[in-house]
Amino acid sequence: MNFQSLLTELKDGLLTITINRPEKLNALNQQVIKDLDEIFNRVNEDEDIRGVIITGSGEKAFVAGADISEFVRYTSSQAKKMAENGHRIFNKIESTSKPVIAAVNGFALGGGCELAMACHMRIASENAKFGQPEINLGIIPGYGGTQRLSRYLGKGKATELLLTGDMISAQEALDFGLVNYVTTKEELLPKCLSILNKIKSKSPLVIDQIIACVNAHFEKGEDGYMIEIDEFSRCMDTEDFKEGTAAFLEKRKAEFKGK
Ligand code: COA
Repeated sequence: MNFQSLLTELKDGLLTITINRPEKLNALNQQVIKDLDEIFNRVNEDEDIRGVIITGSGEKAFVAGADISEFVRYTSSQAKKMAENGHRIFNKIESTSKPVIAAVNGFALGGGCELAMACHMRIASENAKFGQPEINLGIIPGYGGTQRLSRYLGKGKATELLLTGDMISAQEALDFGLVNYVTTKEELLPKCLSILNKIKSKSPLVIDQIIACVNAHFEKGEDGYMIEIDEFSRCMDTEDFKEGTAAFLEKRKAEFKGK
């Protein structure tokens, strides 16, 4: 895989995507956005990819936001296109049928916090900082931040962060449930890989169904209970269900095929 703004490594079915603009703290310019769009098309199409990690290049940042120098002269109609496109791609990441973990290795600000929140899980190193500082620039978040931050932190704390532009530490993000774990810098990627390796042994069909059910309630405003009933009943027709239950009864490890 060859992308102008991303480094990629596919190993044992797990794809690590590194946003590679360290001199600009991995700020999301339109090239990065385009590359993320394309790579997630590949992730969805390629059966050999069973899980994804997104991280940032360098020691300081995951992603320090949308590229301010790029949108500084936008008209409102250009800004609308930018936000619509960003929403489309972040929704694509969120509805990816394979698990996606943000390995937050430093600043996750503005579009960086929004990108991390579009992933299914977030794991942070101790130096990570999260925030939506757009208010300091005289704008609001444009890649889903007002919605997803409220969902993860609750309305009161999210409103505080959105209105003050303050950052929170990795430990605070853990306390609020925004991240699943905080690790040392060295342990960050191994922790992500260990979670994805565990998930990789499960049924790809069921992974997809669980992501869809969780998203139905939290992201799409649909009746998640009804979707769960439908998806649960669909499981009975799969070979993976037969294999999983047979393996339990035969006291052996299940070998899921995604069928
Ligand atoms: N867009 C464009 N460039 C950015 C950027 C962004 N969001 N964030 C950082 N950069 C660039 C800086 O302009 C600087 O480039 P330069 O060396 O060519 O001047 C480089 O990345 C390093 O950043 P710098 O500000 O010097 O690092 P720092 O350690 O002093 O501060 C931050 C780090 C994250 C606190 C600071 O860069 C910052 O506040 N960034 C903007 C955060 C933001 O508002 N994000 C929301 C955007 S919508």
